[in-house]
Amino acid sequence: MFDFDDLERAIEAKVCEAPAVVRAKVKPHIKNNHTKVVRIWAISDLHTDDHHNKEWLDELETKGAANDVLIVAGDISHKWDIIKDTLSFLKARYARVFYCPGNHELWGNAQEDSMRRFHAILQLCQQLGVETAPAEVAVGDRRVLIVPIMSWHHPQWDMEPEIQGWRGLLPVDQMLSDYPLTHWPEGICIQDGSAALAIDKVNDELVDWIDLLQRRHEYQEVLSFSHFLPKVENNPEKRYLTYPNLAKGIGSDYLRRRVEELRPNLHVFGHTHFGYDLEVEGIRYVQAPLSMRGNSSSERHSRGTTVALGDFPDGLPFSHPFMAGKLRDGLGTARAQGVAFAQRLGTKEPGQGAWSAYVERYGRRPDVTPGEPRWISDFSPRPQDAARIQRQMVKNYRKI
Ligand SMILES: [Fe+2]
Ligand SMILES: [Fe+2]
Repeated sequence: MFDFDDLERAIEAKVCEAPAVVRAKVKPHIKNNHTKVVRIWAISDLHTDDHHNKEWLDELETKGAANDVLIVAGDISHKWDIIKDTLSFLKARYARVFYCPGNHELWGNAQEDSMRRFHAILQLCQQLGVETAPAEVAVGDRRVLIVPIMSWHHPQWDMEPEIQGWRGLLPVDQMLSDYPLTHWPEGICIQDGSAALAIDKVNDELVDWIDLLQRRHEYQEVLSFSHFLPKVENNPEKRYLTYPNLAKGIGSDYLRRRVEELRPNLHVFGHTHFGYDLEVEGIRYVQAPLSMRGNSSSERHSRGTTVALGDFPDGLPFSHPFMAGKLRDGLGTARAQGVAFAQRLGTKEPGQGAWSAYVERYGRRPDVTPGEPRWISDFSPRPQDAARIQRQMVKNYRKI
């Protein structure tokens, strides 16, 4: 069984020995900024290197957003110019923009160190006025604390039983692009959780975490966000996934621990491109991904009902797929794929999200591990596909 403390002890030294990155000399405290904001929006997985998504962003109605806050929960692009342009575009339209890098932002060539790249992105954000550290916003007369949590995935996060009768499903390191396309300092890798720990430690450079926890009670509401998943409950059960090993490349125990310590009213995440809105142990978890492009081969087309949060999709093709922006009783509804949290973060009527609605209705039974379901045997890649998939990952990365 995976022992969180053992892992931490075992790899702590490796992380500390890693080449120096940009480190704060003094742990900063929470920034106060009493700009009055009207609404807080959240979205993930903008993937604006896809021109369909870029066009969607260009058309986004932001006239009434000058006093709003936008949270972007990772995955803009792996291209520097696109990350910069997208964040600049958003910063020009919203009063405040909060952001954490996703996995795509760390993709690079073999000579690029992913840790250095991570810190370079944080520096870019600083130059652009995009916020990556915990900070206060004032919504009406209420103090709201927004807490970005930096994270990376590790396979040990998945502790749920495997489905039975697997016939050679590809292991996660042969299936996820993050393995060939990220490059870590010596001694750090994704597989043993040391990359997840190294990124988690960045949080302690961004804020005095203990101080933040001690001041948690001063805020009427707390909203945290990350790119990856804190809880296994944020993911559909393995038997429903076409690639059950997905669970080994999406979450972080370090992130889970921070969220459980902080106990936000609401935590926004991204990465899996499943629209989600589900309360787990008193914390509401939401994912509102823009996801991939709107042509016939895209996931917005083929997986529309699971990508969507709320009423999306209301028809194909998606000329202007999200952001209907309808408000009800002063609260943002989940119609918009960017979800608005306006009055009380914890009490907004939940959006749908196919899988979170399913869990709400039927519960979660990870102990049910049937023989390999048909949709897995039909669609999941096999060992004989490994070399082709690896080649395709690198090819796609170079092409985008
Ligand atoms: Fe994504
Ligand atoms: Fe992602």
